[in-house]
Amino acid sequence: MIYKTYQNLISWGKMSTSKIQFDNFESSYSNRMQSMRSSAVRDLFAAASRSDIISLSGGMPDISVLPLDQVAKAASDSIKEEGLQALQYGSTNGRVQTRQLVCDLVKDFFIKAKPEDVIITSGAQQALDLIGKVFINPGDTILVEAPTYLGALQAFSAYEPNIVSVEMDHSGLIIEELEATLEKLGRASKPKFLYTIPSFQNPTGVSLTVERRHKLVDVCAKYNVVIIEDNPYGRIHFNDEVLPTLKSLDNNVVYLGTVSKVFAPGLRCGCIIAPPGILAKINLAKQGGDLCGSAMCQVMVEHYFHDTDWRGTMKKIIPVYEERKNAILNALDKYFPPEASWTKPEGGLFIWVMLPSFINTDELLNVALDNGVTFAPGSGFYPGGHAKSSFRMAFCFEEPKNLDIAVKRLADVINERLDLYRAFVKAGVLKE
Ligand SMILES: Cc1ncc(COP(=O)(O)O)c(C=O)c1O
Repeated sequence: MIYKTYQNLISWGKMSTSKIQFDNFESSYSNRMQSMRSSAVRDLFAAASRSDIISLSGGMPDISVLPLDQVAKAASDSIKEEGLQALQYGSTNGRVQTRQLVCDLVKDFFIKAKPEDVIITSGAQQALDLIGKVFINPGDTILVEAPTYLGALQAFSAYEPNIVSVEMDHSGLIIEELEATLEKLGRASKPKFLYTIPSFQNPTGVSLTVERRHKLVDVCAKYNVVIIEDNPYGRIHFNDEVLPTLKSLDNNVVYLGTVSKVFAPGLRCGCIIAPPGILAKINLAKQGGDLCGSAMCQVMVEHYFHDTDWRGTMKKIIPVYEERKNAILNALDKYFPPEASWTKPEGGLFIWVMLPSFINTDELLNVALDNGVTFAPGSGFYPGGHAKSSFRMAFCFEEPKNLDIAVKRLADVINERLDLYRAFVKAGVLKE
């Protein structure tokens, strides 16, 4: 049986359908809970595991190529060789060996860093929360790309900022828009920071051009705005060109990294590379959050990157992602109506689709679920939940054959709506 509606789906398990339960603790919660919302993509995780649903919603990396015997050896070596440190509390900044590893790895992105410039976090997601904690007072303005990573919106929203978005096009953030926004905001509402994902962005898959990268750091320096650069997808590129990170252009940039898409998200290992003042504040904020990250995971990460051919493993998975991306792009060309448009990423895990404005993809998801396919509706990627006619498709997890079926199913649902729309327009009931 296929799920009836998305609303049913997200309410199952949270609330009995036979009786409505009121929350007796409603008056005890903080105001900030009102601005926090659940991620539609996380809510769809349950559906993603059903065999009758093809999921294009979550950005889970395909870890099936991982050499599990070598990962097992990395785990057992971690205990055998450094068990007493691995199982003990560690320093808030993370192990110096892990921080040195980060410095070695980010050389590939032209970043020069020393272990004292780095703090290890529980994934890049914790880094985003710490950034929010350190920078945002309620009502402070922050800048994000439109659209942006919904997990960042979730993390920042907890600190009750005024989130202002800056438009993007097929070459990434539009620098003129950024400058116009900064002018308009003026000194009174000067943004605390700009959050950006310049390489193979989540959700659009778009990358900022080299020329715009230079302009971006110049504009932010001129207006004295901190840049938060999030780079989880930088290594998943389908051509040989490695674009310069913003951090490599300006050492004041706060850089976020993660092993989630290069090794394994289950280890929850990420990092922040930042100027000393900011790093000291992040250390303070992190002490209250978790005292320290998991030393065991850090030792395992060290073993994996030092002892296995991880670059070889990446060389195996990247062509798999590229094949899937091509499959989904071919299917879009084949089945989608001419009124739709989409991005053509050179890396990363996502494609962004734009439909005519009368189609609401929150509603479309209900029908798509009934037809056995999920995607991530566009509204979640905008602070105000607008731009409801777009959506994100993740091509990383399903086989090409399934991707073709999924896109066909979606196209059927969209074409049905378009046929209806065209009929109304023809009958003069709706304007074109
Ligand atoms: C842009 C972006 N930043 C951060 C994260 C969080 O990654 P992590 O698994 O390292 O917490 C993700 C996860 O998908 C992401 O897409």
